[in-house]
Amino acid sequence: MNCKQKSLMAVLALVMAAGIAFVGCQKEGGGQAGEAGKGLIGVVMPTRSEERWIKDGNAVKEGLENLGYTVDLQYSDDDIATQTRQIDDMITKGVKILVIASIDGSALSNQLENAAASNIPVISYDRLLMQSPNVDYYVSFDNYKVGGQMGDILITGLKLDDASAANPVIVELFAGSPDDNNSVGFYQGAMDKLQPYFDRGVLRVPSGQIDRAVIGTLRWDAAEAQKRMENLLSAHYSGNVVLNGILSPYDPISLSCLEACKAVGYGSTPGKPLPLVGGQDCIVASVKSILAGEQYATVLKDTRSLGAATVTLVDTLMRGETPTGLDTTSYHNGAKIVPSLLLDSVIVTKDNVQSAVIDTGYHTAEALGL
Ligand code: GAL
Repeated sequence: MNCKQKSLMAVLALVMAAGIAFVGCQKEGGGQAGEAGKGLIGVVMPTRSEERWIKDGNAVKEGLENLGYTVDLQYSDDDIATQTRQIDDMITKGVKILVIASIDGSALSNQLENAAASNIPVISYDRLLMQSPNVDYYVSFDNYKVGGQMGDILITGLKLDDASAANPVIVELFAGSPDDNNSVGFYQGAMDKLQPYFDRGVLRVPSGQIDRAVIGTLRWDAAEAQKRMENLLSAHYSGNVVLNGILSPYDPISLSCLEACKAVGYGSTPGKPLPLVGGQDCIVASVKSILAGEQYATVLKDTRSLGAATVTLVDTLMRGETPTGLDTTSYHNGAKIVPSLLLDSVIVTKDNVQSAVIDTGYHTAEALGL
């Protein structure tokens, strides 16, 4: 069974578990299906300043409210102390289940211990909660596969299969936040795709900065990435060396790298076209940039599917059912394997913006300025 089929089976299994329970089962945490006031669910998202987390928060909140749950949705301003306080408050308020997208995946152990002591199941949302046995489920995308797609974007876009060591393709690499376990999957997935090209001498990184520890971007901060790109360009790209491509794990990083390149003449000087860059999250600004022929591609992780899968999982647990069809091998958080539901992602280029983004309703044509 391929990844897509596995994800589909897992979603179906969850939906079925919820459906079976719907036929008359009394659940632990509240009333019967269809009743209002079925229990308070705590949902914590890392920040309101990134487009995707607002979509995620809305999808989870609306989905749960439609099923009759009450939702306490909080955004943590990318501040760990704020996030710990919000979770403490939710535990005190007596939430039935906690859905947490962490800032620093390893910083919440005390909160998770308190949740376990109060018998509150914890669902790790998108980002894996690390170093704690008190994490019950993980709902995310297949992060390693997402990384592979980031690698594929460079392989296809830069035509690496046609390139030779005599005239290597020049790239620089960016990774996500070191405190976010997803960064590991993204990096590993991408590097496993790109390594053969490095080995053949077809790809070259003039800065020599390749290790994840060196190329990480704390808190996914686009301004930090832009500064690093500026420094790389001034330190390693004087003379005739032209940057051809950038590995980027996140759309705002892609856009800020492109800005740094434009500032030194890329895209406006003969022989210096904009470097090819991918991304992740399919944010509006990046899709516009893709349509304008600047950013080359992005990886779309449909937050509506992630939200819906989470809502189904919450409902299954609230009915006292055991979710089935989960991946029980892939995600070890340092303390245990966390049963996971991993969804599929899609590469978006100019060629499939219409079918993958607009026709699916992820963004409207109007939002994209069309
Ligand atoms: C990651 C997430 C990415 C991106 C990034 C920055 O954890 O998987 O899709 O949103 O955070 O927010």
